[in-house]
Amino acid sequence: MSARPVWVGTSWKMTKTIPQAVAYADALAAHTWPSADVVRPFVVPPATALAAVAARLGASSPVLVGAQDAHWDDAGAWTGAVSVPQVRDAGARLVEIGHSERREWFGETDRTVNLKVRAARRHGLVPLVCVGEPADVQAAGGSRDFVLGQALAAFAGLDDLTGVLLAYEPVWAIGERGRPARPDEIAGTVATLADAFAPRGARVLYGGSVDQANAADLLDVPGVDGLFVGRAAWQVEGFLALVATAAAHPR
Ligand code: PGA
Repeated sequence: MSARPVWVGTSWKMTKTIPQAVAYADALAAHTWPSADVVRPFVVPPATALAAVAARLGASSPVLVGAQDAHWDDAGAWTGAVSVPQVRDAGARLVEIGHSERREWFGETDRTVNLKVRAARRHGLVPLVCVGEPADVQAAGGSRDFVLGQALAAFAGLDDLTGVLLAYEPVWAIGERGRPARPDEIAGTVATLADAFAPRGARVLYGGSVDQANAADLLDVPGVDGLFVGRAAWQVEGFLALVATAAAHPR
């Protein structure tokens, strides 16, 4: 029995209709899961499918359901936004905050990330905070300072980070245009984050072009406590295969 379970999660980003999401959730509900001491699975559906997926899994499921974003204010005149109480109401127990796609395209800043982390804490949701440096920063050797700065800003005003998930996702490694990272390329930055935040209770996940071929090697990187996956887990078979890899991974 491991004292440190491996987290394995997937964001479906802007994919899936409600029926597609429900079919995925039904497969998760039918799955026999390893103990929570071994693996902690989570899925992050689009907002439209959040309630249906959470209902399908039920509150006692080992699979945490998350939202891809939530506003820092509890309620009010914020057209287009949903709040942490609203996503919690829909069944979310986790909220993703500060993904690089939101930082690049939706005006997310270190300040709004911090406000959202505080809102998630206030309402008892697991914050899944994403940090990651762009390619030019990596090329200039600035990865560690860059992500440390993002994470320190995200956690400003918080001491205890118990239950917080911190996903290191280099921008150059994410998505169709991304390049899978070699373990040696990320080890130093992971160590920086783990040294700074694991003693305060946070768990460090790695994300960016994670798939079956590289998952075990990435889990071998000291300080990595889990994987955050996009495309390779958009089909439930891919997700369950990664969960199995993580469960079999020596800790
Ligand atoms: P990817 O996405 O696995 O499709 O590269 C990862 C992410 O953005 O979290």
